[in-house]
Amino acid sequence: MCGIVAAVADRDIVPVLLEGLRKLEYRGYDSAGLALINENGLQRLRALGRVAELTAQVDETGAAGNTGIAHTRWATHGAPSERNAHPHISGGLAVVHNGIIENHEALRAHLKADGYEFTSDTDTEVVAHLIARELQTTPDFFTAVRASIARLQGAYAIAVLREVEPDRIIVAREGSPLLLGLSDAGNYAASDASALLQVTRRMVYLENGDCAELKRDNYRITRVDGTPVERPEKESQLSADAVELGAYRHYMQKEIFEQPAALSNTLEMLETAHSIQPGLFGADAEAMLKDVRQVLIIACGTSYHAGLVARYWLEAIAGISCAVEVASEYRYRDSVPDPQTLVVTISQSGETADTLAALQHAKALGMTRTLAICNVPESSLVRETALRFITRAGPEIGVASTKAFTTQLAALYLLTLVLAKSRGRLTVSHEAAELTALRHLPVAVAKVLELEPQIKAWAGHFATKQHALFLGRGRHYPIAMEGALKLKEISYIHAEAYAAGELKHGPLALVDKEMPVIAVAPNDALIEKLKSNLQEVRARGGELYVFADADSEMQASDGIHVLHLPEHYGALSALLHVVPLQLLSYHVALVRGTDVDKPRNLAKSVTVE
Ligand code: G6P
Repeated sequence: MCGIVAAVADRDIVPVLLEGLRKLEYRGYDSAGLALINENGLQRLRALGRVAELTAQVDETGAAGNTGIAHTRWATHGAPSERNAHPHISGGLAVVHNGIIENHEALRAHLKADGYEFTSDTDTEVVAHLIARELQTTPDFFTAVRASIARLQGAYAIAVLREVEPDRIIVAREGSPLLLGLSDAGNYAASDASALLQVTRRMVYLENGDCAELKRDNYRITRVDGTPVERPEKESQLSADAVELGAYRHYMQKEIFEQPAALSNTLEMLETAHSIQPGLFGADAEAMLKDVRQVLIIACGTSYHAGLVARYWLEAIAGISCAVEVASEYRYRDSVPDPQTLVVTISQSGETADTLAALQHAKALGMTRTLAICNVPESSLVRETALRFITRAGPEIGVASTKAFTTQLAALYLLTLVLAKSRGRLTVSHEAAELTALRHLPVAVAKVLELEPQIKAWAGHFATKQHALFLGRGRHYPIAMEGALKLKEISYIHAEAYAAGELKHGPLALVDKEMPVIAVAPNDALIEKLKSNLQEVRARGGELYVFADADSEMQASDGIHVLHLPEHYGALSALLHVVPLQLLSYHVALVRGTDVDKPRNLAKSVTVE
């Protein structure tokens, strides 16, 4: 959460900071601010709301400068307001911060006792005052920042500048992402590469515990204790177009329609393959997966739902027992570790604080067979697992995850097949059929996307509803959960998902004509059972919206709306059935006029607990 951009260059860097913040707005968007050093000294601008509000202030004031730091915020400590917006200032220095300082209360008490006055409710202001106080006894700016952060507990990325040293920015990272961007005309730092593609492709990814000093024409990295370290420079492969909206109205819409390409990129290695190999998950995968006894999947949000689908696959196809748990629960629970468990962490960003902490927890319990399924190759998660599979969905900007989910499912299906094979449960002909189905998947998803006009026509029915119920069975129950999550995230309609068999154990009491019921109804072994559940809804006057398959006998009638997907896709049907639910939530949100890409109170990347 929160996005940071910092720049020290030969030119006016305000346009770079603002463009960087726009790219990082997905990380948080309740307030924004920047601090500059120019001929007038230290100048700070802050605005409640979006980066556009800050841009308007820049236009009004004509703010310009060669050195600056900027921030877009997702509130943790202190409500969204201008006074809580970053940067925070103390004694001629300014700080922006992403993360949470856990010992901020104790530090605040000491600083107050020393006479420091607080003008915000944030934990960040503690950092500003700490550095200011340290500078009184430690004159070197870089050393003073390092001495100050050595006293912080928690997760953070920070950038600091100082009025009396106009050519120097200090940054540090512990638990929250931060990278440097290098160029001949200046040096930069940001929370992710997309913010800096406007000026450079030369990136240096900082490790936890790294601090860096940036000047116009050089930089150096040390550990917190001052020991110099080298980090490799990497050429970012991210295409600038990948983070542009292009012809689309919203990133979520773009990302829904990018799913065929995202799947095809993720599964590219299968194009010429004759078999599915463990090496897809890393060089050590064969040895590590050979005698795995069970699988434990840990994730949050939409990534957790991908794990829930995978449980059905892993148990049915690979015959391996699988547990799936939300990371925030697992990390604090007393669980029974088994070193022969494969711990699978799933994350679009690879920076979700709870998922990272849950992985650490599993490792501390002696579970070393760890796998990350992640969309960001340079992320913290990928660096901390023994095995990895990088989904190639491309940058996902919309807060509501779509293409990351379907590519995670593709990766999890590959894992299922690898484990099935290693356990002697995949015949040669079955493997060949699976390869064909996977290769055809992008086309199958593209055909589902053609249903958009019919789904759009349904969206109006939901516009005035307060609640919605999603039903599914088997591996489509997590798809119903994902549909409910999408609808609540972006349209603010309260939505719940139930395993259809549970309907009569409670939720049926809620069903009346005001409660639309959305059913995920593929033509699988559970279809007849699901049909009975739907009759239970209809008998109570509930309006049904059914996503069926082409070959299903499910027909529309009074109070039952049915959309047929083009084909039934067997075990992989979950990947197809989630697509109309994504489109439905998107179009309902449009009708309700909500902010699709930046839903209230949420952020894309939850890097705080
Ligand atoms: C946030 C996002 C969700 C995402 C979840 C987990 O809540 O809004 O879209 O599913 O975090 O994020 P991750 O990056 O770990 O998949």
